[in-house]
Parts: sequence; structure tokens; C-alpha cells
Amino acid sequence: MDDRRIGFFDSGIGGLTSIPYLLKQYPDEHVIFFGDTARTPYGSKSDHVIQRFTMELGNFMHERNVKMMVAACNTISATGLGILREKYPEIPVTGVIEPACDVIARDCGSEERIGILATKATVASNAYVDTIREKKPGITNIFQVACPAFVPLIEEGIIDNNIIYDTIRYYLDDFMRENRIDTLVLGCTHYQLIRKPIEKLYPGVRIVSSSEEVVSSIGKLLGEHDMLAGKNSEENVFYASDLSENFVNMIKLLLGKEQEELDIRFKSLDI
Ligand code: DGL
Repeated sequence: MDDRRIGFFDSGIGGLTSIPYLLKQYPDEHVIFFGDTARTPYGSKSDHVIQRFTMELGNFMHERNVKMMVAACNTISATGLGILREKYPEIPVTGVIEPACDVIARDCGSEERIGILATKATVASNAYVDTIREKKPGITNIFQVACPAFVPLIEEGIIDNNIIYDTIRYYLDDFMRENRIDTLVLGCTHYQLIRKPIEKLYPGVRIVSSSEEVVSSIGKLLGEHDMLAGKNSEENVFYASDLSENFVNMIKLLLGKEQEELDIRFKSLDI
């Protein structure tokens, strides 16, 4: 049993989308979340910069004595998990890519045509393609597309209007048609927030969401390390490096709470 919190982090609001899934399945768990909203997006930055930011996030979580670290960000999962594990060997760390690939490996075969939507850095890392092939070499039809305009729009709260529909069509219409995609991986946690428009535009396509699937990996680690929380009085705390209105609104929306009921704080990392 371990009543400490789980540390979640992302470049911004995307990682928040994993938290309702976690709390639904593990209602006794509590989180410290950090969204690096002042420096989002990470996905168009170089690996070197993403890794530096990742270390700052890891140090922040370590200082707060979290029991586990969850990189609720595909971009960090693709480029920075190794350095976190090296620096904090005593803390279990999970990313979001491997759990999503587990689902693909479990459910798909040589027939399926899998599309990976992700940031530039995640696509460039080839992490999805390599991980899926490692888990199930028979899966050969894997296609990737980088969608760098999604994250800035989503951070602005543009998730359900003509601008986002047009942007989705811009990136996906040809990609979906030419590659005859039947399974689409939301390989960026922000994209969970535009899942509905994607489903509306491409009905019948199966969606695998990295935001959702990470919960199985968290559950497994909690069990393996005997870290499940008992009923405890710890509260969820949400930090951002810039307290944007959308960050606050998204927490209210995802947790179904009023601002007065939430602990939301500003914290700069780069000082
Ligand atoms: N949510 C992050 C991810 O899953 C967004 C990356 C970004 O900031 O570009 O990759």
C-alpha cells in the first residue's frame, strides 16, 4: 500500500485527458499533474530540448515525492523516458506509447491498416512503428502522419468548430484514403480532445487512444510494486507553467468540478 500521489506530466493540457480514465478505474489514487503550458508544444522542438524539459519535469515530481511518474505525453515517451529511468531508478516510470502498442499488438494482424497520428518528434522517433513491430512482427501496414497544428489549436480551446474540422481534413483526408486506414492511433494525448470530430469525419474507423490505454500500464505497475493507495485524504493538485484559462477550464470539464473545489497552481520550471 502506498498513499503517495502519482506524478503526471505533459507539455500542456493533453495529459489531463488520462486522469478521468485513471480515477474511474482507481478512485483511491491521487495525482500531481504538471502541464508545461508556457513552453508547449514540445512536438516541434528538437530531442535535445525535449529531454532538457523532461528532466525538469522529472525533478519537479521527484522533489514532491511521487510514487510513480507517468509521461502522459507521447513526445516525451518517444524521446525522454530513458533518461528519466536512468536518473530515478527507484521510481516506476511509464509512458503512453507502449500501452497503446500493446492494444494494437493484441487486436490487430497483417490485415489491419494502422494510422499513427502524432507530433513531428514522435513520428521522427519511429517509436510507434518500432514498438508495434517488436511486439508483433506480422503487423506490417503501419503509416504515420505528423499533425503539428493540432496542439496549438487544442491549447487554445479550439476543439469543436470549423477551424478544427478543416485542420483535421487537411492532415487526414488524403492520408486516410490513400493508405486505406481502418485503425487510427491517437499518438498524442492532446488528440483525445478532438476524438469526437475525428470520429465524425471518419466513421467506422477504430480509434486507439494513448490517453486511455496508459491506465493499464499504471495499474500493472501499481500492482507489481505494491503501491495501490488505500482510502486516503490526499487531494489532486494541478500545476501549470502558465495558468491559461483553457488549462483551468479543461480540468473543470474533465473532472466535472467547480474551480473552488480544485487545487490549481502556477509554477515556473525554467528558473
Ligand atoms: N500531449 C503531447 C503528446 O502526447 C503533445 C506534444 C506537444 O506538445 O507537441 O505528444
